[in-house]
Amino acid sequence: MSSTLSRRLPLAALLPLLVLAAACSSRSGAPAPVVLPDDAPGAAQRVDDPHSWAEPWDVAVTHLGLDLDVDFAARQLAGTARLDLDNRTAATTLFLDTRDLDVRAVRRDDGEAAHFELGPADPVLGRRLAVAIEPDTEWVEIEYATSPAAAAVQWLDPEQTAGGEHPFLFTQSQAILARTWVPLQDTPSVRFTYDATVRVPPELMALMSAENPTTRSADGVYRFRMPQAIPSYLMALAVGDLEFRSVGRVAGVYAEPAVVERAAWELEETDEMIPAAERLYGPYRWGRYDVLVLPPSFPFGGMENPRLTFATPTILAGDRSLVALVAHELGHSWSGNLVTNATWDDFWLNEGFTVYVERRIMEELRGREYAEMLASLGLRDLRETVAELGADSPDTRLHLELADRDPDEGMTDVAYEKGAFFLRMLEEAVGRERWDPFLRSWFEEHAFESVTTTQFLDYLNDELLAPAGLDPDALQVDAWVFGPGLPSNLPEPSPARFDRVDAARQAWIAGELADALPTADWTTHEWLHFVRGLPEDLSPRQLAELDSAFGFTASGNSEILTAWLLVALANDYEPAYAAAERFLTTMGRRKFLVPLYGALLAAPGGHQRALAIYEQARPGYHSVSRGTIDEMLGWGDREN
Ligand code: BES
Ligand code: ZN
Repeated sequence: MSSTLSRRLPLAALLPLLVLAAACSSRSGAPAPVVLPDDAPGAAQRVDDPHSWAEPWDVAVTHLGLDLDVDFAARQLAGTARLDLDNRTAATTLFLDTRDLDVRAVRRDDGEAAHFELGPADPVLGRRLAVAIEPDTEWVEIEYATSPAAAAVQWLDPEQTAGGEHPFLFTQSQAILARTWVPLQDTPSVRFTYDATVRVPPELMALMSAENPTTRSADGVYRFRMPQAIPSYLMALAVGDLEFRSVGRVAGVYAEPAVVERAAWELEETDEMIPAAERLYGPYRWGRYDVLVLPPSFPFGGMENPRLTFATPTILAGDRSLVALVAHELGHSWSGNLVTNATWDDFWLNEGFTVYVERRIMEELRGREYAEMLASLGLRDLRETVAELGADSPDTRLHLELADRDPDEGMTDVAYEKGAFFLRMLEEAVGRERWDPFLRSWFEEHAFESVTTTQFLDYLNDELLAPAGLDPDALQVDAWVFGPGLPSNLPEPSPARFDRVDAARQAWIAGELADALPTADWTTHEWLHFVRGLPEDLSPRQLAELDSAFGFTASGNSEILTAWLLVALANDYEPAYAAAERFLTTMGRRKFLVPLYGALLAAPGGHQRALAIYEQARPGYHSVSRGTIDEMLGWGDREN
């Protein structure tokens, strides 16, 4: 709403609004986000991020120097963060984000101890740290320690790793959890370079979203450098018994010794993905691209930490069938890491673009038909999500309004899939010969910038639609971005391979034996389409027949297993319970946990059964997954 407004208003009309916004503090009265184009004379861009206490338009952090000791026994990171400042307005207070941090002292570049104050704790935003500075203060150094409960950090006992002998630690900073392990301006509208010294037990290796070692250091001391400016949510650290394997010119894999060979085999195509993406969207700007395969409690499929994607081991299917996830995280090297959503309301600029890019990369590698299968599965997810949220829910809009909420709540398939289908609709409207250079220029011209939805729409109109003589209204651009639900010009992928799957499913429903179906050349994606399209009500005999023909309950493919368990649990198929319990107690990927606990809850006697499994599983989950499942199961409210 307000964004549509500011997009249409000429600059002069915006000035009174800007004065007003500058007069309010960033949070009180929650002023509408007001963005001054960065080419406006004499103006630094101002983006009000409702999820940060920082006021970077006054003083911005430009570089972070981190010095940390990693203490597994105390589950604590302790040390110093030195922040280099760009003080644009002779400000005398620096505002930072912290959550659950023990701030012990702050020093200034002049050697003086700086006065500091922590504000009240907000459950989502944490505490504002205000540091007194001089107009000419060039840096401050904060001495601090994390809490054992720091939400970004998961400390794993040896039993939770593949090797079983050494502890492990990893961080997950997106969206606003970096502030639980580093005091900084935790908003994607601020970018900074960093270096770090990290001390760990000498038998372990440390890795960051930076230039990384490939072998263990003798003394447990690691030095890192990240020379490209990144937003805080891309800060990442992992420590464990890790090994490196190269899989090509600039690509490699890190994992525990017990996993690393399997991981390197599965992810070998990474080396091909990089040049494929470069042909489409311009040079890869980050030096190396490595993937760290984490222990199974990693709460996401992947996280695009620059130079070092973090990934779940549930993509190791043994047949390279789930590597689109790597194409996705690699894709963020353009959409997200290079051109970054300015606030979490603009999340679709990261994820919708990246799903689009992911499918283009997979098309380069495996052909159009393969990418169409991915798109078709994505469309089904999108329709289900929109149906769950309600087609008129504000959360089905691409541009979100997440002020006063946890940004996590906006991170649904809408940003991913509606975003990707919006770009596909534009691609189809103008043709690839116009669209591909346009997207490439968007990345090139906004490299290392944080961008708003409004900026993209302006660029789209000026650089693509107007020159092509296309009317944005005819394409329903505003309905896509600011309206709920799914616009009528939603593209509809229809891979021929899925038509054959539909025919096989129909034949089975009509009485053909499962064993006799023509499934010999099916990939994971055909299986997913087959299972997701099964009728809602199936008899125990039918489920048993499918299971014995195709071995679903015993599947080692995490995607197929999840899709099957959802069908099986919904029909109270007994063997599924043990399989669900095994899966839920051995991995913590939220995308699988949420629907599976949901299916357990919906089954007869479900709440008790779900709680019994969760009680066992919960200590092994990362805080991100725990938060979601606690809420689903009413964990905090139970009587015992
Ligand atoms: N950046 C996201 C993960 C994320 C999003 C973490 C929001 C925290 C908050 C990552 O790129 C991602 O989208 N991962 C997906 C996999 C992808 C193939 C869709 C996931 O983890 O499932
Ligand atoms: Zn993503």
